[in-house]
Amino acid sequence: PTARLTLDPAFRVGTVDRRLFGSFVEHMGRCVYTGIYEPGHPTADEDGFRTDVLDLVRELGVTVVRYPGGNFVSNHRWEDGVGPRETRPRRLDLAWRSVESNAFGLNEFMAWAGKAGVEPMMAVNLGTRGTAEALDLLEYTNYPAGTALSELRRSHGVDKPHDVRMWCLGNELDGPWQMGHKTAHEYGRIAAETARAMKRFDPSLELVACGSSNAHIDTFASWEATVLEHTYDFVDYVSLHAYYEPTDGDTDSFLASATEMDRMIASITATADHVGAKLRSNKRIRLSFDEWNVWYQSRFGGEDSLDWRPAPELIEDEYDVTDAVVVGSLLITLLRHADRVGAACQAQLANVIAPVMTRPEGPAWRQTIFHPFARTARHARGTVLRVEPDSPLVDTAKYGEVPALWATATHDEGTGEVVLFAVNRDRAHPLTLTADLRAFPAARVEEHLLLHDTDAAASNTADRPDRVRPRRIAGTEAGDGGLTVELPPVSWTMIRLA
Ligand code: AHR
Repeated sequence: PTARLTLDPAFRVGTVDRRLFGSFVEHMGRCVYTGIYEPGHPTADEDGFRTDVLDLVRELGVTVVRYPGGNFVSNHRWEDGVGPRETRPRRLDLAWRSVESNAFGLNEFMAWAGKAGVEPMMAVNLGTRGTAEALDLLEYTNYPAGTALSELRRSHGVDKPHDVRMWCLGNELDGPWQMGHKTAHEYGRIAAETARAMKRFDPSLELVACGSSNAHIDTFASWEATVLEHTYDFVDYVSLHAYYEPTDGDTDSFLASATEMDRMIASITATADHVGAKLRSNKRIRLSFDEWNVWYQSRFGGEDSLDWRPAPELIEDEYDVTDAVVVGSLLITLLRHADRVGAACQAQLANVIAPVMTRPEGPAWRQTIFHPFARTARHARGTVLRVEPDSPLVDTAKYGEVPALWATATHDEGTGEVVLFAVNRDRAHPLTLTADLRAFPAARVEEHLLLHDTDAAASNTADRPDRVRPRRIAGTEAGDGGLTVELPPVSWTMIRLA
């Protein structure tokens, strides 16, 4: 089968916001403890941060990291995690039926983010707490000096404010599993009043209202409509969360998961614009896809199976080649919506459904899904081009017929680099892809990278950490205004043109 697309700088989607390559650190399982933080580990620095993990985070190219949850935030007291460590309380974390030592808290996260070179994105607790506590946290975090809470921060050894720009107004409060679960009306009111007050503190803060926790929940889209009716004037983003896995062995539908993400983005964009139209507003709400990934939820025994331990091994999915191809296709989808999606966080960063895995006192390594993320984060820059692929179709049980080819491209006007990202979702057939390059007559191939394996179930483990990695394909050339490449079944490809 053959597929075609055209790369032309005249046809643009939008600018790539660097925040599209975000990640997420939740106090959950071993994401923090023995993930990014492990005093005593052979690679730990003076703050107890694992430098082997820090190196991998920099290589991953993560730009922004959401913290501290997730479900965890909805019964979290931020004060527990600041000040002298010996006085910090041990608490029950009801979200994950775990024990939280609070050895790592707000200031440790900010120090870690500085070392990792990432922007922090904070979430406030609007589950069991409210506006007052959110404002206290904001004052502690962002106010320079001379008030009770800014001086408290300074007494904790942090002289300068952290100046966090992006704040999530709670987490997944549509979900009955959430501590402090709310109706859309209840959440819309508290989110609006908290946002109004936070903007009084600093109108340039970027605030995110909670959207639905997934696209299958009964209240999907009606939740966003009600919440945005309350919050439209005070927030900048609405959040989207989605996790994908194969159900009943249906790999064809799983490979087409980007179809669902694509529809979800279109639905929430339409919902937000509908509210904007009713309010006669010129403002456009952007989308923060601040939790997304492959997650084998069917393997998780549920919260009730957990038994109050600190940092338990929790949802440590081992990813294979197919999962990496799906992750590559989800990144393509986020880029294809760069006009509206302004931030996105892969969930999570270390150990918990994560690109980076660690062993306590042991090594850290890259899961298969690390690779498409790292390459996309590094090379997708500038403007997203509107490519309109012409592709054969694959029949899927969940989504009907979907194009085998899923693709996007970016153009960095500064360097002149054009990068094509493409996935072949067909399990049976290779795809011969021809890209029309007449608009880039001088283009030559700088790098052709392929993630594919004859064993689509191959994964990376502590013993074989580099079993799956992208390979450079030699000899690919552009000529006669075009480029033709072979995309093997279940594969992710990146071609950089200079
Ligand atoms: O990332 C794991 C969990 O998934 C988060 O805590 C929650 O927000 C979502 O349901």
